[in-house]
Amino acid sequence: MTGSRFRVGIIGAGRISDLHAIEYLQNPLARIVGVCDRDAAQARSKLAAWGIPDVAVEEDVDRFLAREDIDLVEILLPHHLHLPVALKAMAAGKIVSLQKPMCVDLAEADQLVAAAEAYDRPFKVFENFIFYPPVLKARELIDQGAIGTPLSIRIKSNPARSATAWEVPPSASAWRSEKSHAGGGPLVFDDGHHKFALAWHFMGDPEEVHAFIGDTEGPGGMRFDAQSIISFRFPGNRVGNLEIVYSPDMELVTRHYAQDDRVEITGTAGVLFINGGHGRLGATPPVTLYRDGQITTYDVPSGWEQSFVLSTRHFLNALQTGGAPVLTAREARQVLRFSSAAEQSAREGKAIRLAF
Ligand SMILES: NC(=O)c1ccc[n+]([C@@H]2O[C@H](COP(=O)([O-])OP(=O)(O)OC[C@H]3O[C@@H](n4cnc5c(N)ncnc54)[C@H](O)[C@@H]3O)[C@@H](O)[C@H]2O)c1
Repeated sequence: MTGSRFRVGIIGAGRISDLHAIEYLQNPLARIVGVCDRDAAQARSKLAAWGIPDVAVEEDVDRFLAREDIDLVEILLPHHLHLPVALKAMAAGKIVSLQKPMCVDLAEADQLVAAAEAYDRPFKVFENFIFYPPVLKARELIDQGAIGTPLSIRIKSNPARSATAWEVPPSASAWRSEKSHAGGGPLVFDDGHHKFALAWHFMGDPEEVHAFIGDTEGPGGMRFDAQSIISFRFPGNRVGNLEIVYSPDMELVTRHYAQDDRVEITGTAGVLFINGGHGRLGATPPVTLYRDGQITTYDVPSGWEQSFVLSTRHFLNALQTGGAPVLTAREARQVLRFSSAAEQSAREGKAIRLAF
C-alpha cells in the first residue's frame, strides 16, 4: 500500500473485468497497477479502454504474484483456476478478492476455507448480486419490518435474446461448456451462484433442496441447463424456489448479459418485488412493496454495474476499517453447497437434506 491506496492487480482481463475496473478506477482508496492475462493483447486493449494504457501487463500468473508492488489481487479467471491461483496469491501475501464461485466443487472449497481461515490477511469471495441497489433496498425494507417475517422467496432467472446486450466472446463460453473448467452448468451452478446467494442473503441456510434441471440449446450452440426448477426449504417452515426459463425469441433491453432476473419475497404481512436484474422487461420500478392494500414503489438506481461498484466499495472500506469482507470463504462455501445440492438432487432424482 502506498499512502492510503491499495495497489490492485487484476488477474484475468476477460468479459467481466470491465465492471470490476469501474470502482478501482474511481475510488481514492485504490489504484490499478497491473493486469495479468495470458492474452496480453486483450489485456492491453482493456487498459486502453479504462484510460490507463501505461499500466504494465504480465502474461504469467507466478511472475505477476511475485511483484512486490501489488497489495491486492482481483482474480477473474475460469473456475478451475480459482483454487490454485487463490492459494498462490495467499502464499505471496496478497489481499485476495476471488470471483464467484470460489472453486469447482466442495472438496476444493474445503481447501480454500482452511487456507483462508489460516491466512492473516483479508480474503473475499466476490458476490455482487447482494450489493445490487434494489436488493439493498429490499433488505433495508425487510429489516424495517415492511413485510413482517419473510416466509418465501421466489427467484426467476430468464435468459432471452437482446440486440442491446454486450458482446460475450466465444472464449468466455468455451470454458463454461467444459465441466472440468466450469464445475457445473452455466445457469444453475455458474449464474445460479448469484441466485443462491440471494436466497441465502434473505432467508439463511436451507435445510433441504430439490431440483429438476433441464437441458436445451442456448445461444451459439451452448447447452443451457434450462428449463429448471429448484425448490428450497428453510428452517421454521419457510420455503423458496429458483426457476430458470430460457426464452429464445423474447427480446430484452440490457447493457450486459441477455438475461433478466425477478425476485418476489412474501412475508407474514406483505410482499416485496425486485423487478429486474441484468435487464428489463419494460419500465417496471426497481422495487415494489405491497402492504395493507397499498402499493409503494422505490426508484433506486438499477444499473447492474452498480452491484460491482458497491461490492468493491464495501471491500475497500472493510480493508480500511478492519471489517469483515462479504462473502467470507465460509459464507461462499455455504452458497456453493446450495448450488451443488441442486445439481446433486437433479442427478439423483431426490431431495438433498443439508447440514451446515
Ligand atoms: N459476478 C458476476 O455477475 C459475474 C459475471 C460474469 C463472470 N463472472 C465470473 O468472473 C470470472 C471470469 O469470467 P469471465 O466471463 O470474465 O471469463 P472470460 O473467459 O471472459 O475471462 C477470463 C480471462 O482469463 C484469462 N485466462 C485464462 N487462463 C489464464 C491463465 N492461466 N493465466 C492468465 N490468464 C488466463 C483469459 O485469457 C480471459 O481473458 C468467472 O469466475 C465468472 O464466474 C461473474
